[in-house]
Amino acid sequence: MNNEIKAPGGVLVKSMGFSLALVLLFTLVANLLPQVEGEAPVDQEVDLGALTMDSYVALGETLFSGKGTCALCHNDLGRAPDILAINMVEVAKQHLQDERYKGPATDVESYLYESLVDPGVYVVKDYGKKGSNDTISPMPAVDKSPIELSEIEINAIIAFMQAKDGYDVTVSLPTEAPAADPTSPEVVESAGTIEEVVAKYSCQACHVILGSGGDLGPGLEQMAGHFTREEIRQGIIAPDEVIAEGFPPGVMPQDLAEQMTVKELDILVDYLASHGKSTATPPAATSSEGAVDSSAESMISSFGCQACHAILGSGGKLGPGLDGIGSRLNAEEIRQSIIDPNAVIAKGFPSGVMPLNYSEQMSEEQLDALVAFLWERK
Ligand code: HEC
Ligand code: HEC
Ligand code: HEC
Repeated sequence: MNNEIKAPGGVLVKSMGFSLALVLLFTLVANLLPQVEGEAPVDQEVDLGALTMDSYVALGETLFSGKGTCALCHNDLGRAPDILAINMVEVAKQHLQDERYKGPATDVESYLYESLVDPGVYVVKDYGKKGSNDTISPMPAVDKSPIELSEIEINAIIAFMQAKDGYDVTVSLPTEAPAADPTSPEVVESAGTIEEVVAKYSCQACHVILGSGGDLGPGLEQMAGHFTREEIRQGIIAPDEVIAEGFPPGVMPQDLAEQMTVKELDILVDYLASHGKSTATPPAATSSEGAVDSSAESMISSFGCQACHAILGSGGKLGPGLDGIGSRLNAEEIRQSIIDPNAVIAKGFPSGVMPLNYSEQMSEEQLDALVAFLWERK
């Protein structure tokens, strides 16, 4: 980590690091997890009758390794029963018969449900908290903070645990979206304004929206009139179904459907479906509005360089680290590698990855400032 560069950008650098970490996490999670089906179970307007059991089970599988954090403990490291490796339905039947079981559950589904929301009712032998003689479970109740799964999410995981070993799923498909339940903690905590939603999910790390952002993904201020609400919704919750021309698949987080509340998704879709045409801001104009200023640090942030390059103490590895770039390239070469990345390909790195349209996005003045800043990194 290189923390030498502080001063005016000190705070900025930290917050950039945070959103980058989020992006990397998103990408990582997206790569690790099987893709959630297009039908978002949190989607109020989609007819929930159209949600199939297969996609509900797939959601459960995603939640198991993702938001539910189950796989952090339930894996082959011995910290908790390895649910993916054992036949959980048979194990549940055995535990229901165990004389140590004193809970009210009568069948596999209610046993599994109870295991998730009240793990202490029955503590699997040898897995209890140290010194508790298997009376206290180390497992957190998954409907409470910090995991906070909704009823629908809990049932999806139960469906997954039943289906993975070939058993019939006994939970029923949800008929009501979780956000319709005013007691759901997600609703209370959901972001309420378009600014909050965009910030919460780091859309600006990759998209220009609300006047600034990176360009790993297409600008989002021109969608009105070109895309229907349904297409915009799909673009957010099932990004790989249709890939925007000229942009790579697999970069946009695949699990937004699972993370967002219905309300947040609606706020985004409402905004995107109504912005564009007359209100459209061509990317170059953002600088004159002051949304993207010409300080190199803020450009590096708003143009998303750190999605691929390590600089200012953080960043990705898709491209070469840019601390020290001034000792490798002269100013002219740096300028060229920004505005015409394919002219010279840095050794050991892929061509065609670095965006080709920075020259259209940056004013001459911004480019000068950026080149000068990079050239000083020696
Ligand atoms: C912090 C670690 C931890 C996390 C996170 C966790 N568990 Fe557990 N879980 C355990 C431990 C340890 C046990 C065994 C002790 C017990 O029975 O409570 C257990 C028990 C269980 C059981 C009962 C097993 C049996 O044989 O009766 C089920 C089912 C279960 N977990 C599912 C889940 C699911 C699904 C999630 C994610 C939503 C999850 N757990 C998250 C640690 C964890
Ligand atoms: C890590 C980078 C990244 C993040 C973060 C990200 N996206 Fe994307 N997004 C992309 C890429 C790349 C594409 C183009 C490829 C594709 O269509 O999947 C895209 C495509 C889209 C599209 C379809 C656009 C079109 O023209 O077809 C929409 C809508 C969209 N994103 C919205 C969002 C919203 C809203 C957020 C925040 C909640 C967000 N994205 C977060 C990278 C990202
Ligand atoms: C989507 C990934 C990506 C983004 C975003 C990106 N780059 Fe790159 N960049 C690369 C890759 C990959 C290379 C190496 C291949 C090449 O030379 O084209 C590279 C090469 C470079 C080089 C040449 C490095 C060398 O050692 O020769 C410079 C300078 C550079 N990028 C600057 C930037 C700046 C400044 C930004 C933001 C304005 C940026 N890049 C955004 C992927 C990216």
